Amino acid sequence: MKTRPPITTALITGASSGIGEELVRQLILHPEWPNLQIIATARRMDRLEKLADQFAPGKIIPVAADLCDPADRDRLWAFVQTRFGHLDLIVNNAGFGTYCKLEESDPEVVQKILAVNVEAVIDLTAKSLAWMKPRGKGQIVQISSILGEVGIPFSATYTASKHAVNGLVRSLRSEIAGTGVAVWAACPGQTVSEFREIAGQNKATIRGKNAEPTQKVVAGIVRGILRGHRQPFLYPTWKPLAIAYLAWIFPRLWDMIMIRHGRKFAMDDLPEISETQPK
Ligand SMILES: NC(=O)c1ccc[n+]([C@@H]2O[C@H](COP(=O)([O-])OP(=O)(O)OC[C@H]3O[C@@H](n4cnc5c(N)ncnc54)[C@H](OP(=O)(O)O)[C@@H]3O)[C@@H](O)[C@H]2O)c1
Repeated sequence: MKTRPPITTALITGASSGIGEELVRQLILHPEWPNLQIIATARRMDRLEKLADQFAPGKIIPVAADLCDPADRDRLWAFVQTRFGHLDLIVNNAGFGTYCKLEESDPEVVQKILAVNVEAVIDLTAKSLAWMKPRGKGQIVQISSILGEVGIPFSATYTASKHAVNGLVRSLRSEIAGTGVAVWAACPGQTVSEFREIAGQNKATIRGKNAEPTQKVVAGIVRGILRGHRQPFLYPTWKPLAIAYLAWIFPRLWDMIMIRHGRKFAMDDLPEISETQPK
């Protein structure tokens, strides 16, 4: 049986809450990787320090960085190289979206979504490849979304950004085949996190009643990392998997369902936006 290369160094973005924070926890506590050290990054340093304090000193190394800023990304990368010397795993998890009609989007917010969800992912992936390829090993994991495969109303920019991430993975898979470096994207469905408060600008009505528990979603992603997932996309739970299959096998049916009922699905979560929508 082929032995899995050990993972001793990892960089995880968006580690101050939600999926990223839980991922740091589950990876650090996993018996497969007793020597793992993680550089955990986000803007909110107080949150990262609180997370690091829960584990033995040096296991989690918090670094503050705003991934919208290319200079911050360069500083983060320089720190990773100095501190680690090599990188076994990067998880590009940081990301956000907003719920609104496209024509009402704030151009500055659109630019930020694309900077964090796409530009930073491409930049850190390129930096990782340049470093991992000469070693002939490494895992690059993108936290994409089921919205990298299908679309929903009132999330067009976010959906476009996640389609870009899935496109990046599709292209790179063939480009780096045989180098020993793996790249794949996890595509969760609705997950409990701070995502909806941020996307809905803290409106209490963002219910997310179908959101799945963070621990369950992250456990699916960790299983993928553990086995060095070989497919381009991983659906960590059955809900996004079922949606993806339905959309792949019956694309016209899926399109029809979304045109007829998509706004209603979205309205269940977003009564404020939907007030002005035709029924
Ligand atoms: N929750 C869902 O339903 C869901 C479903 C599918 C995919 N996803 C994806 O999962 C990933 C994690 O999201 P989440 O659900 O865990 O949401 P979350 O709880 O809001 O976490 C988002 C993380 O991204 C970081 N981040 C945002 N903007 C940043 C910036 N400019 N620079 C650096 N870090 C930044 C945040 O940290 P700071 O604010 O401290 O910087 C935070 O740690 C995202 O890529 C999201 O698209 C989420």
